[in-house]
Amino acid sequence: MSKRKFPDLFYNPVSMTGAIIASVTFGAILVLMIIDTIWNALPPYYGIVTYILLPSVLIVGLIIIPLGALIERGHWRKAAAAGVPPLPRIDLNERRQRTAFFFFSTGTLLFMLFTAIGGYHAFEFTESVTFCGNICHKVMKPEYTTYLHSTHARVACVECHVGPGASWWVKSKLSGTYQVYAVLTNRFPRPIPTPIKNLRPAREACEQCHWPQSFVGERRITRAFYLEDSANSRWNIDLLIKIGRSTSGEASRPPVHWHVTHDVQFLAADSASQNIPWVRLVEANGDTETFTTSDNPFTPDSVAKLKVKTMDCMDCHNRPTHIIHTPGQAVNDAMASDSISPSLPWIKLTAVNALTPRYSDTQNAVDSIEIANDSFYKTKYPQLAVKDRSKINRAVSAVQKIYRENFFPYMKVDWRAYSNDLGHQDYPGCFRCHDGNHRTADGKVIPNSCKTCHLILSQGTAPDTLADLSGIPFKHPPAGIGDAWQGAMCTDCHDGTQ
Ligand code: HEC
Ligand code: HEC
Ligand code: HEC
Ligand code: HEC
Ligand code: HEC
Ligand code: HEC
Repeated sequence: MSKRKFPDLFYNPVSMTGAIIASVTFGAILVLMIIDTIWNALPPYYGIVTYILLPSVLIVGLIIIPLGALIERGHWRKAAAAGVPPLPRIDLNERRQRTAFFFFSTGTLLFMLFTAIGGYHAFEFTESVTFCGNICHKVMKPEYTTYLHSTHARVACVECHVGPGASWWVKSKLSGTYQVYAVLTNRFPRPIPTPIKNLRPAREACEQCHWPQSFVGERRITRAFYLEDSANSRWNIDLLIKIGRSTSGEASRPPVHWHVTHDVQFLAADSASQNIPWVRLVEANGDTETFTTSDNPFTPDSVAKLKVKTMDCMDCHNRPTHIIHTPGQAVNDAMASDSISPSLPWIKLTAVNALTPRYSDTQNAVDSIEIANDSFYKTKYPQLAVKDRSKINRAVSAVQKIYRENFFPYMKVDWRAYSNDLGHQDYPGCFRCHDGNHRTADGKVIPNSCKTCHLILSQGTAPDTLADLSGIPFKHPPAGIGDAWQGAMCTDCHDGTQ
């Protein structure tokens, strides 16, 4: 008995088990933390184990130790009803008590230190891109993959999705905990619906790095399109969009970022804000102008009861980082960079057609894409299929790459799942309001002429390109539709497969 270092109360099977659990996990955490510091490239699950799972086990172990002592005291009480003091007497003159006191105080200090370090690491870890994008890698694959290919690939997920401060932290960890539960129990919607709740407000999220006062000048957008004919005829468009304050003194055309320096409010008839029948402009002096469509369901009474949305960055830049390309767009870009050779007859149409079906999984898609392209050339162009083998193989790989980066069958995500509100060709975008059908009671219309937002500097197929620095009227690429594009929404005919 005298060899014992701690009060006898702790020498019971329950406390011993607790002590073993605590010391083993503590040792394991220590080793893993050392490995983590020295060797940085460990798999993502490892962080969950080190900073979340093991510490929870450690705490359970630590709770079991005094619990065992309490149970033991109960036993002693029953055995010798009068002999046991209600609480242990602390007497530092006694050697065993001294050791126990020393052990517990340094132990507690050390534990608090490690909790602080571990807690910080746990916090850092749950805020990291690895945690958000990789842990639920099947669920977050669309967002993570598109993110990695975007201009914002170095901006942490939390910079846009979680704000600073305790309330955001609690909010995000609570909904995060639910999300982990939803994933574990397979109870999540596919695709994840937008707009997502709890997205950090645009003024906070985006304006950390971009602020409206700094928007100046114009942005030039040059695009190459390939038509779906045998020659894959190329058609170029060169646009100039006025972004912000003029640098040339030209004040006549307001810039696109006019909306965030003014108070533009709206109500949508659907949850994804694709149908906007009611728009109100509030001037600095309080004057208002309300633009509505002919089928607007909102009456002044119902407006007063609803939460009117004020336009912000995300109402145009709703896909600043998770950009999912349409098959048409993606194939155009691959052809412009020659990873799909435009010299292969009908390749634009064949490639787009191979991307359009809804495949059951990525492997099935990749195989079908190869078969579709191969068999097309083997049956229609047998000589070329032999002679240009390497070009065909390269095109097949490029189309498969497009699939891997923009199609996520597990989450049912592709260009059809989310609209991109910047532009108007494949999704309604700007034309949700600028369609010529939004007017005030006295007939003023939200401007929709093609010159409102951009100047077309040049368009066409070299050498027949039309060009003029003061802007030229739009000419629809030759598609046998004549002037039918005029007065129509581009999306009446375009769905991402052109
Ligand atoms: C530059 C800001 C930004 C960054 C960085 C960012 N997101 Fe997003 N994210 C958004 C916006 C904006 C939306 C769309 C919100 C909407 O339409 O309601 C969104 C939507 C989502 C959605 C909802 C589904 C969808 O595709 O619309 C998920 C899930 C998501 N993001 C996860 C992530 C993950 C994981 C990361 C990091 C790997 C990340 N995000 C990084 C801005 C960002
Ligand atoms: C942590 C900083 C940071 C945050 C937050 C951020 N961005 Fe960016 N953004 C950048 C950087 C850096 C670039 C790249 C600039 C360049 O390439 O010239 C960029 C580029 C852009 C571009 C132009 C790139 C393109 O591909 O057209 C847009 C548009 C943009 N950001 C919008 C947004 C929006 C909308 C948000 C809020 C949801 C946001 N950003 C949040 C840093 C940030
Ligand atoms: C009315 C729609 C709209 C709103 C609202 C809007 N933008 Fe833009 N923004 C555009 C368009 C259009 C462009 C032109 C570029 C393009 O089409 O890719 C652009 C370009 C940009 C660029 C690239 C600038 C450059 O010089 O290349 C950044 C950065 C940007 N926006 C950030 C923001 C931020 C931050 C906000 C919110 C404060 C915001 N935008 C609000 C429509 C909008
Ligand atoms: C929610 C509705 C809404 C959406 C979406 C929207 N706008 Fe606007 N926009 C307005 C309103 C309202 C005005 C002011 C009309 C007026 O007072 O004449 C305006 C004005 C403008 C102006 C100034 C026009 C002028 O000559 O006075 C430009 C440029 C513009 N928008 C570009 C865009 C672009 C580009 C997009 C898409 C990226 C876009 N807008 C999306 C509502 C919208
Ligand atoms: C409310 C603003 C606005 C109006 C009005 C507008 N556009 Fe655009 N347009 C844009 C924006 C913004 C983009 C750039 C989208 C992007 O960055 O991809 C664009 C892009 C384009 C493109 C390039 C194709 C593409 O998808 O990138 C063409 C072509 C075009 N517009 C034609 C027209 C024609 C024709 C009209 C008149 C019927 C028109 N636009 C009216 C805002 C507008
Ligand atoms: C009446 C139907 C119709 C309308 C409306 C229409 N288009 Fe098209 N568009 C077509 C067809 C058909 C093609 C040819 C597809 C092909 O051969 O690749 C095409 C092709 C294009 C192309 C080149 C192909 C590509 O890769 O995108 C561009 C750019 C284009 N349209 C822009 C626009 C814009 C911008 C608008 C709206 C102002 C518009 N179109 C409205 C039917 C239409």
